[in-house]
Amino acid sequence: MEECLAIADFDMSLKDQIQKDRLPNHIAIIMDGNGRWAKQKGLVRVIGHENGTKAVRETVEASAELGIKNLTLYAFSTENWNRPKIEVQTLMRLLVKSLKKEIKTLQDNNIKLSAIGCLDDLPKKASQELSDVMEKTKNNKNMTLTLALSYGSREEIVNVIKELSVKVKNNIISPESIDESIINKHLYTQNLPDVDLLIRTSGEQRISNFLLWQIAYAELYFTDILWPDFKKENLYEALINYQNRERRFGKTSEQLT
Ligand code: IPE
Ligand code: IPE
Ligand code: MG
Repeated sequence: MEECLAIADFDMSLKDQIQKDRLPNHIAIIMDGNGRWAKQKGLVRVIGHENGTKAVRETVEASAELGIKNLTLYAFSTENWNRPKIEVQTLMRLLVKSLKKEIKTLQDNNIKLSAIGCLDDLPKKASQELSDVMEKTKNNKNMTLTLALSYGSREEIVNVIKELSVKVKNNIISPESIDESIINKHLYTQNLPDVDLLIRTSGEQRISNFLLWQIAYAELYFTDILWPDFKKENLYEALINYQNRERRFGKTSEQLT
């Protein structure tokens, strides 16, 4: 009996192992592997995307429950427009469907929805639904959930340079005044802190044009789990792994202690 208790004590759940006072302020996720998940099961890619939306709900709920303040999900890249038309259409339809369905989850968990990317490129229905949910949740305070839609980091940076050039040309700012903080204020992510933890699923170890500026000092975490299989426990694993790292920001280990 005693032995059983000892084992039970030792076998802390993954969630219990997370230190609540050392959570990343901003988690970003490259949700990858929907197509392969479907293919492995002999299904069409679209079914993979449908099941991917369940993993979105798991992750959003788990993050809100833990007290994560900012979660950013890469849902559709500027490069994803080059996929077959039918897949793009399905992804946009799924976006509208999910927004309609998940508004309740967002309200129940006091989550504010936000979006980054070239939102003008989205089909009208999708951008209207998105604006609607953003408006309805704008006063929610627990967590900011940001969807990266038609998002490309290079496009974002090009936009910043264009906006700043116009301001310099019109004598609104001087070239000398341009610093990191001004650049931050012109990015789509102007209201978000830097990314602390970047997760990518599906075994791919690349950034695919996601938040290049904002991940300058993020911890990178790659898992072989395909996105539709991503569960709360997988997020807990990523967080435990993150908390076991030493973030030095250029300093020496000794300086930190
Ligand atoms: C991620 O899954 C979803 C999007 C990019 C929209 P993929 O569709 O890229 O899945 P794989 O990489 O082909 O398995
Ligand atoms: C990145 O995934 C974009 C999203 C997750 C939305 P991709 O599957 O499009 O990335 P690559 O092209 O394989 O790098
Ligand atoms: Mg992919």
